[in-house]
Amino acid sequence: MSATPPRPLSLSARGPLRGTVTVPGDKSISHRSLMFGALAVGESRIEGLLEGEDVLATAAAMRAMGATIERGEDAVWRVHGVGVGGLMQPAQALDMGNSGTSTRLLMGLVASHPITATFIGDASLSSRPMGRAIEPLSQMGAEFNASPGGRLPLMVRGLCPAVPIEYRLPVASAQVKSAVLLAGLNTPGVTRVIEPVPTRDHSERMLKGFGAELTVEEGPDGRIISIRGEAELKPQQITVPGDPSSAGFWMVAASIVPGSDILIRNVCLNPTRAGLVTALRMMGADIESVDLREVGGESVADLRVRHAPLTGIEVPPELAPSMIDEYPVLFVAAACAEGRTVARGAHELRVKESDRIAVMAEALGAIGVAVEEHEDGMSIQGSGGEPLAGGARIASKLDHRIAMSMTVAGLVSRNEVTIDDVAPVATSYPNFYPTLDALTE
Ligand code: S3P
Repeated sequence: MSATPPRPLSLSARGPLRGTVTVPGDKSISHRSLMFGALAVGESRIEGLLEGEDVLATAAAMRAMGATIERGEDAVWRVHGVGVGGLMQPAQALDMGNSGTSTRLLMGLVASHPITATFIGDASLSSRPMGRAIEPLSQMGAEFNASPGGRLPLMVRGLCPAVPIEYRLPVASAQVKSAVLLAGLNTPGVTRVIEPVPTRDHSERMLKGFGAELTVEEGPDGRIISIRGEAELKPQQITVPGDPSSAGFWMVAASIVPGSDILIRNVCLNPTRAGLVTALRMMGADIESVDLREVGGESVADLRVRHAPLTGIEVPPELAPSMIDEYPVLFVAAACAEGRTVARGAHELRVKESDRIAVMAEALGAIGVAVEEHEDGMSIQGSGGEPLAGGARIASKLDHRIAMSMTVAGLVSRNEVTIDDVAPVATSYPNFYPTLDALTE
């Protein structure tokens, strides 16, 4: 994947958001649909796949390891899998672009196959810690040759058969959990992950749906997830629900821009993902769930969001795993609320596509918001609904969610806000800016 040239964008306050928006398919579910389809025997069909760069990196990698993956003119993706154990040696390095999810989950798959793969990525991904996945996968027998600090580029040599382990997650990370479970798919016996703090459970739900023998129990030390290896996955028809993380930008934008009233269609409300809705409601946001239903084993609803005065809160730290990707835009909501918001217990933000605590503290500070950076979060003094000063150039640091969050901040800024590079938005939400234009027409 070649580096895209920077795309700067300037914006200033806009009128209310109105109308209906359908957010793109969930990124986590999209990655897993392609990976599991590529491991099933036969044809899986995927509707509503997120066609963002991160997911396309997963598709390219699965093709490089033998799967056939095609997008039909009907926008349905068809995946012919190679079967668990059937992944082939990729001829070249796997370019993961900006995508941590592709990297860590695929490291898990490679770890228990008799193949060697090199993972490379962009500057952001190459600065992120992979040791958290290397550690359990090494215990299963895979060998790693990583760049200093356990970073990309790194090489994985899989072991087949690998050794099943019982692994207690030291960090609340669905990517690490999934890496171990995916390695367990081709490992004889039972591989177990103990998760003291629940994180997004799409791997568990979907692997069961694909026919893997997977159980989840509540143990004294957290959730115990067991998968029996040498699994046979059966092809599936998947409808990917809308991404709650992408919906988050519109929830906050409509909440803070006076006069807004929007309907966000088809939002996945899996409880391990819905923390932002809870936090915004605590702040006084007017978010109504309409037509709660089930799509592909996930709860989905349409969300009607109307402008409402927000009040600062102490964000419950236990919400962190269910809204980990939403903190940047929550900080923007807090910047517009009455009073102070304190968010702690979110260390993990420091190792996302950027250090989201440092980058958001600097960005909000630059547009006139009083922020105090903590090691594990941030305190923010809100404007009480008054416009933010704006008038600054923001560095998005190859982080799509920083670019989109600061765009939302720009909608309520008195003076122009320039974002130095919005190209990374294409990793998760290629249609974000046209959608913004349509909502603010
Ligand atoms: C993801 C897990 C989370 C999240 C990421 C997607 C996944 O990462 O931030 O955007 O699909 O499993 P961590 O596992 O690092 O918390």
